[in-house]
Amino acid sequence: MAVERTLAILKPDCVKKNLQGEVLAKIQKAGFRVLSMKQTRLTKEMAGGFYAVHKGRPFYDGLVEFMSSGPCLPIALEKTNAVADFRTLIGATDPAQASPGTIRKQFADNKGENIVHGSDSPENGRIEISFFFSESELI
Ligand code: RTP
Ligand code: MG
Repeated sequence: MAVERTLAILKPDCVKKNLQGEVLAKIQKAGFRVLSMKQTRLTKEMAGGFYAVHKGRPFYDGLVEFMSSGPCLPIALEKTNAVADFRTLIGATDPAQASPGTIRKQFADNKGENIVHGSDSPENGRIEISFFFSESELI
Protein backbone atom coordinates (compact mmCIF):
# COMPACT_ATOMS: atom_id res chain seq x y z
CA MET A 1 0.00 0.00 0.00
CA ALA A 2 1.15 3.48 -0.86
CA VAL A 3 1.80 6.41 1.46
CA GLU A 4 -0.98 8.93 0.71
CA ARG A 5 -2.10 12.36 1.79
CA THR A 6 -5.64 13.28 2.72
CA LEU A 7 -7.31 16.47 3.84
CA ALA A 8 -9.37 16.52 7.01
CA ILE A 9 -11.48 19.50 7.96
CA LEU A 10 -12.80 19.74 11.49
CA LYS A 11 -16.07 21.39 10.48
CA PRO A 12 -17.73 24.41 12.18
CA ASP A 13 -19.91 22.13 14.36
CA CYS A 14 -16.75 20.45 15.71
CA VAL A 15 -15.26 23.84 16.62
CA LYS A 16 -18.53 25.14 18.12
CA LYS A 17 -18.74 22.05 20.34
CA ASN A 18 -15.06 22.50 21.37
CA LEU A 19 -14.25 18.95 20.22
CA GLN A 20 -11.11 19.78 18.20
CA GLY A 21 -8.75 18.14 20.69
CA GLU A 22 -10.79 14.95 21.12
CA VAL A 23 -11.22 14.47 17.37
CA LEU A 24 -7.55 15.19 16.63
CA ALA A 25 -6.51 12.70 19.35
CA LYS A 26 -8.52 9.97 17.64
CA ILE A 27 -6.92 10.86 14.30
CA GLN A 28 -3.41 10.73 15.77
CA LYS A 29 -4.08 7.49 17.67
CA ALA A 30 -5.17 5.94 14.38
CA GLY A 31 -1.65 6.54 13.03
CA PHE A 32 -2.06 9.66 10.90
CA ARG A 33 0.83 12.12 10.81
CA VAL A 34 -0.09 15.83 10.86
CA LEU A 35 1.74 17.64 8.05
CA SER A 36 0.06 20.97 8.74
CA MET A 37 -3.02 22.44 10.38
CA LYS A 38 -4.67 25.82 10.81
CA GLN A 39 -7.87 27.51 11.90
CA THR A 40 -9.69 29.55 9.28
CA ARG A 41 -13.16 30.73 8.35
CA LEU A 42 -14.38 29.99 4.83
CA THR A 43 -16.29 32.61 2.89
CA LYS A 44 -19.38 31.36 1.05
CA GLU A 45 -17.38 31.58 -2.17
CA MET A 46 -14.58 29.42 -0.76
CA ALA A 47 -17.00 26.85 0.70
CA GLY A 48 -18.89 26.73 -2.60
CA GLY A 49 -15.66 26.25 -4.52
CA PHE A 50 -14.39 23.55 -2.19
CA TYR A 51 -17.61 21.53 -2.56
CA ALA A 52 -18.21 22.51 -6.22
CA VAL A 53 -18.63 18.84 -7.16
CA HIS A 54 -21.96 18.94 -5.29
CA LYS A 55 -23.29 22.09 -7.01
CA GLY A 56 -26.93 21.56 -8.00
CA ARG A 57 -27.56 18.87 -5.37
CA PRO A 58 -30.43 19.65 -2.96
CA PHE A 59 -28.10 19.93 0.05
CA TYR A 60 -25.54 22.22 -1.65
CA ASP A 61 -26.82 25.61 -0.42
CA GLY A 62 -27.16 24.34 3.15
CA LEU A 63 -23.69 22.82 2.98
CA VAL A 64 -22.16 26.13 1.81
CA GLU A 65 -24.06 28.00 4.54
CA PHE A 66 -22.91 25.55 7.22
CA MET A 67 -19.26 25.39 6.12
CA SER A 68 -19.02 29.20 6.16
CA SER A 69 -20.95 29.59 9.44
CA GLY A 70 -17.89 29.70 11.70
CA PRO A 71 -14.25 28.71 12.07
CA CYS A 72 -13.03 25.33 10.86
CA LEU A 73 -9.69 23.48 11.08
CA PRO A 74 -8.19 22.10 7.87
CA ILE A 75 -5.56 19.44 8.62
CA ALA A 76 -3.20 17.88 6.07
CA LEU A 77 -2.57 14.23 6.97
CA GLU A 78 -0.21 11.51 5.76
CA LYS A 79 -0.30 7.75 6.28
CA THR A 80 -0.12 4.51 4.35
CA ASN A 81 -3.54 4.07 2.71
CA ALA A 82 -4.57 7.43 4.20
CA VAL A 83 -7.68 8.12 2.12
CA ALA A 84 -9.52 4.84 2.74
CA ASP A 85 -8.30 4.53 6.33
CA PHE A 86 -9.46 8.05 7.16
CA ARG A 87 -12.91 7.44 5.72
CA THR A 88 -13.13 4.25 7.78
CA LEU A 89 -12.13 6.24 10.88
CA ILE A 90 -14.78 8.96 10.35
CA GLY A 91 -17.61 6.64 9.27
CA ALA A 92 -20.57 7.13 6.95
CA THR A 93 -21.75 10.63 5.94
CA ASP A 94 -24.92 10.17 8.01
CA PRO A 95 -23.96 9.47 11.64
CA ALA A 96 -27.08 7.33 11.98
CA GLN A 97 -25.52 4.96 9.42
CA ALA A 98 -21.95 5.20 10.76
CA SER A 99 -20.30 2.21 12.46
CA PRO A 100 -19.80 2.20 16.23
CA GLY A 101 -16.52 3.80 17.30
CA THR A 102 -16.27 6.10 14.28
CA ILE A 103 -15.81 9.83 14.76
CA ARG A 104 -19.14 10.73 13.13
CA LYS A 105 -21.01 8.09 15.14
CA GLN A 106 -19.48 9.39 18.36
CA PHE A 107 -19.75 13.14 17.80
CA ALA A 108 -22.04 14.12 14.88
CA ASP A 109 -25.66 15.25 15.18
CA ASN A 110 -26.91 14.69 11.64
CA LYS A 111 -25.96 14.14 7.99
CA GLY A 112 -25.46 17.85 7.30
CA GLU A 113 -23.48 18.70 10.44
CA ASN A 114 -21.16 15.73 10.63
CA ILE A 115 -18.03 17.03 12.41
CA VAL A 116 -15.35 16.19 9.85
CA HIS A 117 -14.52 16.13 6.15
CA GLY A 118 -12.31 13.54 4.48
CA SER A 119 -10.98 13.45 0.90
CA ASP A 120 -12.49 10.78 -1.35
CA SER A 121 -9.42 9.87 -3.45
CA PRO A 122 -5.63 10.34 -3.29
CA GLU A 123 -5.85 12.77 -6.23
CA ASN A 124 -8.52 14.85 -4.49
CA GLY A 125 -6.49 14.63 -1.28
CA ARG A 126 -3.62 16.45 -2.98
CA ILE A 127 -5.94 18.97 -4.67
CA GLU A 128 -7.80 19.70 -1.42
CA ILE A 129 -4.59 20.04 0.62
CA SER A 130 -3.35 22.62 -1.88
CA PHE A 131 -6.66 24.52 -1.43
CA PHE A 132 -5.53 25.38 2.13
CA PHE A 133 -1.75 24.87 2.36
CA SER A 134 1.33 25.89 0.39
CA GLU A 135 4.09 23.30 -0.23
CA SER A 136 6.36 24.96 2.35
CA GLU A 137 3.71 24.49 5.07
CA LEU A 138 3.59 20.71 4.56
CA ILE A 139 6.31 19.47 6.86
P1 RTP B 1 -17.22 15.11 3.15
O1 RTP B 1 -16.99 15.35 1.68
O2 RTP B 1 -17.58 16.35 3.91
O3 RTP B 1 -16.10 14.34 3.78
O4 RTP B 1 -18.49 14.14 3.31
P2 RTP B 1 -18.79 12.80 2.53
O5 RTP B 1 -17.75 12.54 1.50
O6 RTP B 1 -19.04 11.75 3.54
O7 RTP B 1 -20.18 13.16 1.85
P3 RTP B 1 -20.46 13.94 0.48
O8 RTP B 1 -21.43 13.13 -0.30
O9 RTP B 1 -19.18 14.35 -0.17
O10 RTP B 1 -21.23 15.24 1.01
C1 RTP B 1 -20.52 16.37 1.45
C2 RTP B 1 -21.17 16.93 2.68
O11 RTP B 1 -22.44 17.48 2.33
C3 RTP B 1 -23.33 17.34 3.43
N1 RTP B 1 -24.46 16.52 3.01
N2 RTP B 1 -25.66 16.72 3.45
N3 RTP B 1 -28.42 16.51 4.00
C4 RTP B 1 -27.86 15.69 3.11
O12 RTP B 1 -28.51 14.85 2.49
C5 RTP B 1 -26.44 15.81 2.86
N4 RTP B 1 -25.74 15.06 2.06
C6 RTP B 1 -24.48 15.51 2.16
C7 RTP B 1 -22.58 16.66 4.55
O13 RTP B 1 -21.98 17.65 5.40
C8 RTP B 1 -21.50 15.92 3.78
O14 RTP B 1 -20.42 15.60 4.61
MG1 MG C 1 -17.13 14.00 0.10
